Amino acid sequence: MNEGFLKRYSFNIAANDFMSAGKGSSSIKNILKSMGIDATVIRKIAIVSYEAEMNIVIHSLGGELHCDLYDNKIIILSEDAGPGIEDLNLALTEGYSTAPESIRELGFGAGMGLPNMMKYSDDFKITTGRDGTVIKITFLM
Ligand SMILES: Nc1ncnc2c1ncn2[C@@H]1O[C@H](COP(=O)(O)OP(=O)(O)OP(=O)(O)O)[C@@H](O)[C@H]1O
Ligand SMILES: [Mg+2]
Repeated sequence: MNEGFLKRYSFNIAANDFMSAGKGSSSIKNILKSMGIDATVIRKIAIVSYEAEMNIVIHSLGGELHCDLYDNKIIILSEDAGPGIEDLNLALTEGYSTAPESIRELGFGAGMGLPNMMKYSDDFKITTGRDGTVIKITFLM
């Protein structure tokens, strides 16, 4: 099942904490840089993990961002505590956002986070419900 698994790095992501927002994904980027991972792969993972982290901060009750290293792939796993995505098909559509004006003023809410996660990854899986949203994003190396 977990063939080739090497190591997990985990980050707690607090809801509505814009002071700390981005620290998890920036740590992941630095870890991968120090490992000498290909720059193109790092760029994609940085974009995707940042979007996942910001969605936890803005849209969820808080959660965790994991970076799982395998011998031939890297998986970014985003897990939060709810309230879940009401209409998943709409949420995956470019330009769809439920972000209120106060969030848009901060520069978020273009509705491009989830579409970009799909675009920049090799595999994208999402499950969502009242108890939370889990997104598993795979990058092949
Ligand atoms: N973790 C989550 N929990 C609950 N709802 C979410 C979560 N992530 C996304 N959503 C919902 O899906 C919508 C689309 O998400 P997406 O990341 O594509 O856009 P956005 O966050 O609104 O704007 P952007 O990412 O461009 O700043 C969000 O507006 C929100 O309604
Ligand atoms: Mg987003």
